[in-house]
Amino acid sequence: MNILGIAGSLRKDSLNKKLLAYAASVARDMGREIRIADLGGVPLYNADVEAAGLPPGVVAFRDDLKQADAVVIATPEYNNSFPGVLKNAIDWGSSKGNCWDGKVVALMGATPGNFGTVLAQAQLRNIFCILNAVVVPTPFVYVPRAHEAFDADGTLNNSMAAENLKNLLTRLFEVTEALKTRR
Ligand code: FNR
Repeated sequence: MNILGIAGSLRKDSLNKKLLAYAASVARDMGREIRIADLGGVPLYNADVEAAGLPPGVVAFRDDLKQADAVVIATPEYNNSFPGVLKNAIDWGSSKGNCWDGKVVALMGATPGNFGTVLAQAQLRNIFCILNAVVVPTPFVYVPRAHEAFDADGTLNNSMAAENLKNLLTRLFEVTEALKTRR
């Protein structure tokens, strides 16, 4: 099973990069590898640029997406929604050939605030309907007060979020296997 991980933040010390790295370590313990995508090389969507030829960072991202059976997304929350960096990557992945079609998606998110990206994740679910991607319904993985949620070694010390994350990955693998078998 090919699994791609996407963090919706570019910053070096991103809490969502930490969350994704933690998810990758949990997946590894379950015998699965999550490849982490690099959104740093994906420029802002511009139809003129697209018409002239896809930039290398976009080609690389779309190739990563095409190869994936499943996608794990760790999203920040900006102004009650998810960040433009993530929307931009989703848009590049859908234009002129929808690379999201049929992917199984697991959502999670981390924020220093108290609500753990509830609103950002709800809006992402909405978007993936139009992209024909299957979002694993539950459990929800919200990491509030995320600046205090990771130990020095990257372990998630919020026990409820950690349990939900493990269960979400289990469901992701089950749903992805089931859909692959039916194709
Ligand atoms: C935020 N942040 C934020 N947090 C939240 O829980 N709800 C929100 O609506 C917002 N809004 C918001 C807007 C903008 C413009 C910024 C820059 C930040 C705080 C945000 O969750 C915090 O910066 C996270 O640390 C960003 O995620 P990474 O980069 O740590 O992964």
